[in-house]
Amino acid sequence: KRLVVLVSGSGTNLQALLDEIATTGAEAYGAEIVAVGADRDGIEGLARAERAGVTTFVRRVKDYGTREEWDAALAESVAAHEPDLVVSAGFMKIVGKEFLARFGGRFVNTHPALLPSFPGAHGVRDALAYGARVTGCTVHFVDDGVDTGPIIAQGVVEVRDEDYEDEGVALHERIKEVERRLLVDVVGRLARNGYRIEGRKVVIQ
Ligand code: GRF
Repeated sequence: KRLVVLVSGSGTNLQALLDEIATTGAEAYGAEIVAVGADRDGIEGLARAERAGVTTFVRRVKDYGTREEWDAALAESVAAHEPDLVVSAGFMKIVGKEFLARFGGRFVNTHPALLPSFPGAHGVRDALAYGARVTGCTVHFVDDGVDTGPIIAQGVVEVRDEDYEDEGVALHERIKEVERRLLVDVVGRLARNGYRIEGRKVVIQ
């Protein structure tokens, strides 16, 4: 299967996918990364793709007249690589109608909280502010809400007392360790086995 991965930051989730595919082999893993896209330049996520010899592209909102035009351009750039699955791995933009019309049902996101708790851009900070004693990560399909699509898999991480002292930096690192393994596992299983989305339920065959 062909994967396009979208990133906005450090790209450690992308790196986990690249490493797994390099170690296991694309055939055995079930998928290869054919391109990496970003909404900004100069990020480590793009550098990781370049070091791995993967094609990259950047579509910045500010280069387009409207958000809709940006969304259509992003969708077009992704479509050019004919992906079977698109993975949002720390991609910090909400895609629009055009993107979802083309990739809905095969667009996977990873979020650093146990959805439906703490959606949005500050999942780790919000879980701490609420005083949650467990949090974690959620890999889910993207729909037209913010972090509301059908859940594929979740991982649990315990909150420690000392997590209140660094605004969740260490907690986010522990979440990301679980998240990287979960994403690699889920994407591989979706690619190898195929899946159905039955309402809220995702069935991996
Ligand atoms: C992940 O925790 C992701 O869920 C969140 O941002 C982080 C991205 O990390 N939205 P990276 O860029 O893959 O290192």
